[in-house]
Amino acid sequence: AKITFITSDNEKVTLEGTSGNVMQLAVNNGVSGIDGDCGGVCSCATCHVFVAASDMEKVGVASEIETDMLELADDANEFSRLCCQIEISEAIDGVELTVAK
Ligand code: FES
Repeated sequence: AKITFITSDNEKVTLEGTSGNVMQLAVNNGVSGIDGDCGGVCSCATCHVFVAASDMEKVGVASEIETDMLELADDANEFSRLCCQIEISEAIDGVELTVAK
């Protein structure tokens, strides 16, 4: 699946991934602003992204644990996701994610 990240410097980075989660893909490719400090276990919120409104359906909804974690991120809104909790599959091909500051 192709996934596009919009970084805080307004740079667009499109990456191709086939497995794993979106945070791993971003970290492996040095996408700025995605740190993945907790290694993807939903406990740090350094992988916070905003999903494009038109892609919300593709990406699906956050789990309860993820929603709780997002409440601790002060700039979270209804488009927020922790991208370590988004599995890469063809179902999310073409999504656009804005990296939270
Ligand atoms: Fe820590 Fe996603 S990498 S919550």
